[in-house]
Amino acid sequence: MRFPQKLLFVIGLSTFVEGQTGKYSAARHLWYNTPGDGFSQGLALGNGRIGALVLGSATEKIILNENSVWSGLFEDRINDASLEAVPRIRDLLMNGNLTEAGQLVLANMAANPTTSRMFGVTNDLVLDFGHSDADWQNYERWLDTLDGNAGVTYDYNGVTYNREITAKFPEGVLAVRLNASEAGSLNVTVSLSRSKGIIWQGASLENNTVTMDIGGSEAGSIAFSSAVRVIADGDITSNGTSLVVTGATTVDLFYDAESEFQWDSVDLYKSSVTSKLEAAASDGYETLRTEAISDHSSLVGRVVLDIGSSGDVGLLPTNERIEKFKEEPDNDVEFVTLTYNFGRHLLVSSSRDTGGVGLGVPANLQGIWNDNYTPPWGGKYTVNINTEMNYWLAESTNLVETLRPLWDLMERSHQRGKDVAKRMYGCPGYMSHHNLDLWGDSAPHDNGTEYTMWPMANLWLLSHMMEHYRFTGDRSFLEKSWSLFYDAATFYNCYLFKFEGYTSSGPSISPENNFVVPDDMAVARKNESIDISPTLDNSLLYEFFTNVLEIASVLQISTTGDEVLSNVQSLRDQLRPAQIGQFGQIQEWRIDYEEASPEQRHISHLWDLFPNSRFTPLINQTLADAARVSLQRRLDHGGAGTGWSRTWTAACFARLLDGNQFFNHTQILLQNHPLQNMFHSIDGSPTFQIDSNFGIVAAVTESLLQSHAGVVHLLPALPDKIPSGSFKGLVARGGFEVSASWSDGQLVSANIESRLGNALKVRVADGVEFKINGTVGDGVETAAGDIFTITV
Ligand SMILES: *[C@@H]1O[C@H](CO)[C@@H](O)[C@H](O)[C@H]1NC(C)=O
Ligand SMILES: *[C@@H]1O[C@H](CO)[C@@H](O)[C@H](O)[C@H]1NC(C)=O
Ligand SMILES: *[C@@H]1O[C@H](CO)[C@@H](O)[C@H](O)[C@H]1NC(C)=O
Ligand SMILES: *[C@@H]1O[C@H](CO)[C@@H](O)[C@H](O)[C@H]1NC(C)=O
Ligand SMILES: *[C@@H]1O[C@H](CO)[C@@H](O)[C@H](O)[C@H]1NC(C)=O
Ligand SMILES: *[C@@H]1O[C@H](CO)[C@@H](O)[C@H](O)[C@H]1NC(C)=O
Ligand SMILES: *[C@@H]1O[C@H](CO)[C@@H](O)[C@H](O)[C@H]1NC(C)=O
Ligand SMILES: *[C@@H]1O[C@H](CO)[C@@H](O)[C@H](O)[C@H]1NC(C)=O
Ligand SMILES: *[C@@H]1O[C@H](CO)[C@@H](O)[C@H](O)[C@H]1NC(C)=O
Ligand SMILES: *[C@@H]1O[C@H](CO)[C@@H](O)[C@H](O)[C@H]1NC(C)=O
Repeated sequence: MRFPQKLLFVIGLSTFVEGQTGKYSAARHLWYNTPGDGFSQGLALGNGRIGALVLGSATEKIILNENSVWSGLFEDRINDASLEAVPRIRDLLMNGNLTEAGQLVLANMAANPTTSRMFGVTNDLVLDFGHSDADWQNYERWLDTLDGNAGVTYDYNGVTYNREITAKFPEGVLAVRLNASEAGSLNVTVSLSRSKGIIWQGASLENNTVTMDIGGSEAGSIAFSSAVRVIADGDITSNGTSLVVTGATTVDLFYDAESEFQWDSVDLYKSSVTSKLEAAASDGYETLRTEAISDHSSLVGRVVLDIGSSGDVGLLPTNERIEKFKEEPDNDVEFVTLTYNFGRHLLVSSSRDTGGVGLGVPANLQGIWNDNYTPPWGGKYTVNINTEMNYWLAESTNLVETLRPLWDLMERSHQRGKDVAKRMYGCPGYMSHHNLDLWGDSAPHDNGTEYTMWPMANLWLLSHMMEHYRFTGDRSFLEKSWSLFYDAATFYNCYLFKFEGYTSSGPSISPENNFVVPDDMAVARKNESIDISPTLDNSLLYEFFTNVLEIASVLQISTTGDEVLSNVQSLRDQLRPAQIGQFGQIQEWRIDYEEASPEQRHISHLWDLFPNSRFTPLINQTLADAARVSLQRRLDHGGAGTGWSRTWTAACFARLLDGNQFFNHTQILLQNHPLQNMFHSIDGSPTFQIDSNFGIVAAVTESLLQSHAGVVHLLPALPDKIPSGSFKGLVARGGFEVSASWSDGQLVSANIESRLGNALKVRVADGVEFKINGTVGDGVETAAGDIFTITV
């Protein structure tokens, strides 16, 4: 049935009015009145292991990813020529022959093959209803960031059709309910689709299941099995590869995929698919949905953010809000809140403690959403900023349950990285370079002087383990993690060398940046990257050695008798301190080189501003001032060119206690990077990279609550554009759960719950006077469970 023009308008309006009455909320739902056309319009959900991207098209296509479906098994790529070359390379560096050193690095240290394994698409679930989008009315599709589910609804020939998709943790299936408002009017053909490596495919009426097994050299993938189980109140027939349902009212589908990464044999991963689908079918869709929503919302719902209402603008379809935000960012402050909630939804959907022991797979460059056999940058773990950014939000926004996969990958790198340490550097212990893959492959990656040779990635990752302890006080976690810290200390104790009196690293880089070789070095005026002791290395090493000493003290491990531990303090104290260069900036390298790319997207030399803390105002104002100069120099030259770089910049301004600059970069990010489905493009192109979706959550959090300087700092960087609001459930180091509200840019009140019974120190905004439970002061002793009210 076709409606005249005027009626169509009324239908549009009625959708809008429904929105206003609470069907969709501006800070919680993504919704659209057109179907998704391609990857960047699909709605993302997941159970921590299986990711689904729901297009909502007439013939539904759900792009599916099991997070361990990568391009191949572990491959030993270590270049054994490295061992002999490293001393020669160091001599060249020390003698100022940087160009020759860089060439020797590529020729002798680049791994073979140069790249590790990559992430790949699993398959698509295709549902053909025999409907055409030319003939449907009242179409809507939505994603609920709190409940973690998505749906589609439309009218067709007078019947209302619904699809709802739910991802179930921990059982690990994806569940779909299809229904029709008129009994018997639902027809659907259910298929699995993939173009490579199908070794067996079939639709059986014995188990009402469509099964697809993948393997062999053509698969472009490790072997796996996947299946979808169909439960219908109509007739089911098979055409051999698909199941055809006719005359149904309600159809439930359960999907699972299991790979040889988690399971030791074909039999085991296949039987795991069968048993998971059997369990899901016996629980039934409704039970599974209730439990899935309860699980997802219990995590996402721990934090509630309110930074203002957008009024009617917030009720528009999400694609229209995205377009409007580009022109009028101040008119939709709730789009920032939706971005925040969406980021936390994505982390809960892509990173949970699933699979067997030690087999967690963290969110990669694409999270777990990818429709490609060769995704951008291989959909890997780029560990010179991107993977770490994915997890910045985990502690501060109360989502520690998402961290286990990261620890598991670090453990795999711990094991693989021992071989790398020994064969490339002749050292005991473990280390890793700037990319990891599923298997924890820690050998160098790619083959270029600007990125390949960075031997510090394990230290950045280890800082996350220390932060976990700072937030949770979990001593048993430290005990379990100690072997990583110890083995890393063992490596650096062997690897580091003395140069100009300093504990030095090299060959290394300030990730992905380059400089102009000065006139007294070779080859003068050439751009180079590989050098000795870039500032990032010194920052990471200083923090790492400090943490090793702290952990040893917490765990009562004696450092004196131990060959490695007894050296840690002097290694640390002989690192070159941060230098302030010719512009008043934090110097990025050991020499104040001329920058070849002053607009560089990486701000590695500001690691100690964010995520670490030694360049922050409450810790050292001199260094904070210099860090601001560095940040501004990048921006003055057109920096912050990628989503993650813009996000890092926003977080840095929050750490500089500059709320307006923080919010300016947050708005610029959201004017330029959201795709239609709110995934962020890396650079304004359709290329998706998830890091800034996650990172911006951490940056927004930093503007409201900081705790890196030994004090719970409320509203440290509140922007003028967010004069009033509230948050609930954020977490501060020391184990404090914090809620607060503010108005006219001033704190109204805050509640701080002490989880661990640590002493509490508080700071409000720029140091205004406040009361703790009615008494003026700056801190109190606490017992676990105490709650304190802060008022000004
Ligand atoms: C890496 O690049 C260097 C210089 O271009 C080349 O000599 C070397 O063979 C490359 N390594 C690999 C494994 O391709
Ligand atoms: C169909 O499923 C939706 C959820 O997707 C539900 O709200 C609705 O009540 C169901 N309709 C019928 C007729 O069962
Ligand atoms: C469902 O399919 C059957 C068999 O092809 C057909 O007779 C029937 O009209 C279809 N129902 C609808 C609502 O399209
Ligand atoms: C079964 O149906 C699907 C979906 O319509 C189709 O793609 C496939 O080719 C059919 N298979 C056979 C063996 O006819
Ligand atoms: C369903 O049954 C068919 C036929 O017996 C079998 O080949 C297939 O592996 C089964 N699928 C699952 C997931 O159990
Ligand atoms: C740099 O090292 C290469 C290889 O050892 C050598 O050929 C070249 O002359 C050196 N350049 C300078 C300026 O020392
Ligand atoms: C150094 O790099 C910059 C920035 O990429 C470039 O503009 C310049 O031409 C390069 N200089 C040389 C000598 O290659
Ligand atoms: C801050 O850092 C500067 C430069 O490293 C140093 O000289 C100064 O002592 C530090 N100040 C404090 C308070 O630590
Ligand atoms: C961010 O700041 C720049 C420089 O002051 C300004 O041109 C731009 O309009 C600001 N952007 C927003 C979204 O406020
Ligand atoms: C602080 O005051 C709140 C009421 O505002 C009260 O619930 C709480 O128990 C007090 N905390 C302590 C530790 O006395």
